[in-house]
Amino acid sequence: MTRLTIRRPDDWHLHLRDGAMLEGVLPHTAAHFGRAIVMPNLVPPVVTGAQAAAYRDRILAALPAGMAFQPLMVLYLTEDTDPEDVAAAHAAGIATSVKLYPAGATTNSASGVRDFDKVRPVLEKMAEIGMPLCVHGEVTNSDIDIFDREAVFIERVLHPIRKKVPDLRIVMEHVTTQDAVDYVRDNHRNLAATITTHHLIINRNHILAGGIRPHYYCLPVAKREIHRIALVEAATSGDERFFLGTDSAPHTDPNKLQACGCAGCFTAPNTLSCLAEVFEAAGLLRNLEAFTSRNGPKFYGLPVNSDTVTLVKGEPVTYPDRIETGAGPVTVFDPGFPLHWRVEA
Ligand code: NCD
Ligand code: ZN
Repeated sequence: MTRLTIRRPDDWHLHLRDGAMLEGVLPHTAAHFGRAIVMPNLVPPVVTGAQAAAYRDRILAALPAGMAFQPLMVLYLTEDTDPEDVAAAHAAGIATSVKLYPAGATTNSASGVRDFDKVRPVLEKMAEIGMPLCVHGEVTNSDIDIFDREAVFIERVLHPIRKKVPDLRIVMEHVTTQDAVDYVRDNHRNLAATITTHHLIINRNHILAGGIRPHYYCLPVAKREIHRIALVEAATSGDERFFLGTDSAPHTDPNKLQACGCAGCFTAPNTLSCLAEVFEAAGLLRNLEAFTSRNGPKFYGLPVNSDTVTLVKGEPVTYPDRIETGAGPVTVFDPGFPLHWRVEA
């Protein structure tokens, strides 16, 4: 196969930032994706419906003329979030979902949740109105090893929430373990998971063996090879509960390359080329469209995009090592192998 036409993909977990960084990275997503679930971990976070509406306006204002892209906004859940504000933002079409960050789990998560019982009224309201919860699934306890934090989160936090609020629709985001894949497969009710591009490609050796590679450091951190293989199996299987959330998370090179560097891989420009390579290697290119374009809208109760993109296979396609933004240079994810599929203009 050398040509593949699929419904236009969506990105169900994306960081666009704000200001000059937003302007720099947005065109890379809008070039290929129809919609994206836009993460609310700005400083300060996007907590209220009014803040989400204002952020959506800033994103649309930063969109280059002639490009089509629909940002799907997310409210950052805090212990003070008002269930009525969430419901109103959902009813008005301003907010598509709510994001649960355990406090301290990742970049700009200080305002996240410490006591999960405090947010129970919000979760119950969301279950009632059918609004999904996006979950950063890692515990933050310093006594839990960073490579175990996702598995422990499932047992200590996710499973109890699902028992207490069974009608809540939950997306376990950027899953990185066999444990998470198994949990989603074994729990059919109201549960799905996103998988990033980079977690289909790197394992923890890529970060740590033969020298430290800050551009591969993201959260949740990449795990052992057996976990990467489980993620590839889940993503390429066509199973409708798994779909693409790139977690493309731009940080400038100075912020990545320092004694305590930021977490995040910037994959927006080359994600579709990378994914085509992964699915082709698995012999399952026919399931790429389900993962990038069909399963996500189905879970969110939205139509698939009406237009298509065509991927063409040929001589290796190159992407710039880094892009320049008004906020500084941002390094593009290096998959470590040649990419043969490009998106036809
Ligand atoms: C994200 C970011 O930089 O905002 N970083 C990351 O490594 N994925 C935060 C997140 O999604 O955890
Ligand atoms: Zn993220």
